[in-house]
Amino acid sequence: MKPDGKPLHSNFPTPRLEVENLHAYQAPLEGRRQLLRLDFNENTIGPSPLVVDALRNIPANQISIYPEYNGLREALIKNLVGINKVINVTPDQVGLFNGVDSAIHAIFHAYGDRGNQLLTTTPTFGYYTPCAQMQGMEINAIPYEGSGFNFPYQQILKALKTNKPKLLLICNPNNPTGTRLKAKQILELCAASPKTLVVIDELYEAFSGDSVIPKVDFTIQQNLLVLRSLSKTAGLAGLRIGFAIGNSEIVDRVSRVTGPYDINSFAVIAAMAALKDQAYIDGYVAEVLLAREWIKSQLIMNGIRHHVGGGNYLLLWPTNQPSHIEASLKSAGILVRSMNNKSLLEGAIRVSIGTTSQMKQFWNAFKKVDEIE
Ligand SMILES: Cc1ncc(COP(=O)(O)O)c(C=O)c1O
Repeated sequence: MKPDGKPLHSNFPTPRLEVENLHAYQAPLEGRRQLLRLDFNENTIGPSPLVVDALRNIPANQISIYPEYNGLREALIKNLVGINKVINVTPDQVGLFNGVDSAIHAIFHAYGDRGNQLLTTTPTFGYYTPCAQMQGMEINAIPYEGSGFNFPYQQILKALKTNKPKLLLICNPNNPTGTRLKAKQILELCAASPKTLVVIDELYEAFSGDSVIPKVDFTIQQNLLVLRSLSKTAGLAGLRIGFAIGNSEIVDRVSRVTGPYDINSFAVIAAMAALKDQAYIDGYVAEVLLAREWIKSQLIMNGIRHHVGGGNYLLLWPTNQPSHIEASLKSAGILVRSMNNKSLLEGAIRVSIGTTSQMKQFWNAFKKVDEIE
């Protein structure tokens, strides 16, 4: 036996070396339903009633046939036009994926070769790293700067010009620091290395309103791909639907490595209904923004170190160990996420922001477990 308990010579077929060495992305997903879930930045009140009605009315015979995707790309574009008025996106510039996670996986699969470089920031969303590792890519992760977690713009620009990496992944606003990057700077980064595919993960864009999409024409901006999802705002995380928007050639290449029916019929029907009810999404976002201000004011009044950026989440540094706070809050029925294992975030927890009443519930429990009063 080896020290890790594995037999010395196993007869199992061996996977690729990169897979054998991979630490797969793991998230504490189980047993969450009865608790107040402030740990995954999900929508905390559920989707629009239109979504629930549409799902309830699916005819039984729809289940036995493969899904159809006609009209979904157009529905997304119509929704974007409704929000931004001027949008230069055509249906062939929209890729459909089984959640943005699946789009990220496909991007790496299509573009990341062994030995190529991924340029990204740290700390950021945890799924970029295993996707790069499973391709055997090198990772150059540049830290956010200062106590405000500012975007390391000069460093990224320099690394782009010097190394010409295959992929640049930027989460905007960044999960978990909320750091925002302006569209103008994103376009400067695209121009600095035209052979680099620049991927902007806009999962939390609705909470800051900083999308690059209204500022670009993807026939001109050929190395930019933007990711959008209905998980966090529209409340469809459980159904898995995400979009990649960019030049049609890029969207085509990324879509080549997915299965033909990766998105199921329920997700398509729910997405169609959600995209028609922007008023619901706007209402939810407005509620979260009010709650964000409320909880921020409590943290300021009590002198607690915190960082609130552009997303539906915040960072705070409790007096006690994050693991203790995480466990104690769980006993009180509230889930949050320790950030102790993330670079620059030692001692921090991330708290997703829901409604003001949910933040009050969190705050009352937090004060007790961190012995604030
Ligand atoms: C930055 C970021 N990108 C992508 C995802 C995955 O989104 P989806 O639910 O669309 O797969 C998440 C989920 O937490 C995220 O935080």
